[in-house]
Amino acid sequence: MKYLPINSQLYIENRKRYAKKLKPKSIAVFNSNDFMPTSADGTMMFIQNSDIFYLSGIDQEESILVIFPDANEEAHREILFLKETNEHIAIWEGHKYTKEEAIAASGVRKIYWMKDFVTVFNTLMCEAENVYLNSNEHLRAVVEVQTRDARFIKFCQEKYPLHSYHRSAPIMHELRAIKSKLEIEAMQQACNITEKGFRRLLGFIKPGVMEYEIEAELIHEFVRNRSRGFAYGPIVASGLNACVLHYVENNKECKAGEVILMDVAAEYANYASDLTRCVPVSGKFTQRQKDVYNAVLRVMRGAIKMLVVGNNITDYHRAVGKLTETELIGLGLLKAEDVAKQNPDAPLYKKYFMHGTSHFLGLDVHDVGSRYRPFEAGMVYTCEPGIYIPEENLGIRLEDDILLTENGPIDLMANIPIEADDIEALMAK
Ligand code: GLY
Ligand code: MN
Ligand code: MN
Repeated sequence: MKYLPINSQLYIENRKRYAKKLKPKSIAVFNSNDFMPTSADGTMMFIQNSDIFYLSGIDQEESILVIFPDANEEAHREILFLKETNEHIAIWEGHKYTKEEAIAASGVRKIYWMKDFVTVFNTLMCEAENVYLNSNEHLRAVVEVQTRDARFIKFCQEKYPLHSYHRSAPIMHELRAIKSKLEIEAMQQACNITEKGFRRLLGFIKPGVMEYEIEAELIHEFVRNRSRGFAYGPIVASGLNACVLHYVENNKECKAGEVILMDVAAEYANYASDLTRCVPVSGKFTQRQKDVYNAVLRVMRGAIKMLVVGNNITDYHRAVGKLTETELIGLGLLKAEDVAKQNPDAPLYKKYFMHGTSHFLGLDVHDVGSRYRPFEAGMVYTCEPGIYIPEENLGIRLEDDILLTENGPIDLMANIPIEADDIEALMAK
């Protein structure tokens, strides 16, 4: 891992909070992710499963966390099973956790090697009545591979059909929606690395530069600051490409007179940041580009003010829609009289602003959490309004990451330049 060690207190506290949600005599099991294969003997870069990471800080493949708060033996209340390292693995794959390192990273005091899992787990299952297993219940997830958690569910239910089975996912969604101080520090660090990347670009972008050259500048800056890299597939979209919401090809030349939309951000210690900025290729916006830019910026400022404890995502999205509608009328893109007659179930603003304004952010970019839960302190939401006008070769989206507190919203990206004049001034340097 490139990141600096995280205080294990984070994981100790997370496990305590999780254990409190279990029925009596419950055992819970969390699996790491697999190394995903490509072709031949290739694999993708390892990315840890967010839930086992949240509860243990263990960032290694072939790991299992067991939480059994009512285990008769105190040593069995929290256990990690890890891949046993040896000289061969050390030479071919490099360093893996020793038992001592795993204890230091996670605060779990009992570590077994994976070869002992079936035997130890069998002893524990004889004491347990309820079993909590984990699955990915993200509303928009499309998972076509069998994860280690899914394989484990199959194994466990076949071998122990008479236990009562329960889902960990709803508990994880509830816990992970509220970020603790140590998590916010990691997220702030991700935002700070993203800021370095963005500032680097302001002196780099000029007519003729390729979108992938911008991507390359960013990955350089992110990795040299201890990030694994992009928190999600980077979007570097010049001109009309900005109107393709999930544009990821990043292979076009940026031309004078165009605006580039960049939805690009770093991860740090597995925590995501999520930024969007738009800059003029030639260093100066046209008046029309600036008008659209400032309209989106006003919507963003208005929206951030509504990310307050007690509000909820449905009312919030409706209100942001209204702000956008007003701006679109001001820009001459909608007519007030048409808006007055519109079908409220299909508001006209959606032609120019077709995505949601905010999503949870955390270990995952579209982090877990219920959309029906009113806003609470400790939640982190993105704020990302936009206006897309393909007929003008122009798409503007601005996105910051906002921490909700009892004293109002805190913008974790407040230091990243956003005023059109500031961006022009920095590009002119
Ligand atoms: N970068 C993904 C998003 O903004 O939701
Ligand atoms: Mn984004
Ligand atoms: Mn986002």
